Amino acid sequence: MAVIDKHKALERSPTLLFIFSFLVVTIGGIVEIAPLFWLENTIEEVDGVRPYTPLELTGRDIYVREGCYVCHSQMIRPMRDEVERYGHYSLAAESMYDHPFQWGSKRTGPDLARVGGRYSDAWHVDHLTDPQSVVPESIMPKYGFLLDRTIEPEHIEDLLSTHRFVGVPYTDEMIEQASADFYAQADPFGDIDGLEERYGNVTISNFDGQDALTEMDALIAYLQVLGTMVDFSTFTPVPSR
Ligand code: HEC
Repeated sequence: MAVIDKHKALERSPTLLFIFSFLVVTIGGIVEIAPLFWLENTIEEVDGVRPYTPLELTGRDIYVREGCYVCHSQMIRPMRDEVERYGHYSLAAESMYDHPFQWGSKRTGPDLARVGGRYSDAWHVDHLTDPQSVVPESIMPKYGFLLDRTIEPEHIEDLLSTHRFVGVPYTDEMIEQASADFYAQADPFGDIDGLEERYGNVTISNFDGQDALTEMDALIAYLQVLGTMVDFSTFTPVPSR
């Protein structure tokens, strides 16, 4: 019997086909999954990546609530056109504190993984309030109402604790000082020593230009940190082990 005939026997018996398919999938599964139990970490450590500050984390929640991810991805693939347009391809470490991650699967608008620092805060206010005023052909919706929604760090300790629960290394001190840090980041004339000591490199600004602290402040604080944590002038990729 030729080999092909043996295979015919397999194809004609649902039971045999099932047993052999199951075997193949099992072996494939073990080969893929088993090594993960012996690896300590599948994400390379990269200098500069830090947990989000309380204000940025709040802004991130607004980003998720408003569904910005429906039109925007946050993952630059290592292909030439993307790298030339958006900057260095995204590293796994850059989204290791994102729960849930915002890689996205669709780009109606541009990728935002490195939008931080690309525009001024005032540009973001104008753009979010009325995208067509700065990019006439834009189809992005208006988010001006964020300017009227004042926020308080009401549940901020809980928010940080929850992120710690899923693995973000917030310290006790960060959680205790969350409220103070929340306000400090949006106040260029305030005391920012504690905030910088706890988080390192943080952009401090009155993001939306208003006296009141609003959802617009939080969202822009978040946008301005995207892709800025790693210094790519000194970054060298770790060779895979
Ligand atoms: C219906 C799809 C859609 C949604 C939803 C959307 N955007 Fe956009 N966005 C776009 C498009 C299209 C552009 C490109 C034109 C422009 O700049 O307005 C864009 C551009 C941007 C830019 C400028 C990016 C760059 O590199 O020039 C930022 C920042 C941005 N969006 C943020 C947001 C945020 C934050 C939200 C949620 C509050 C959001 N977008 C929701 C479609 C969308």
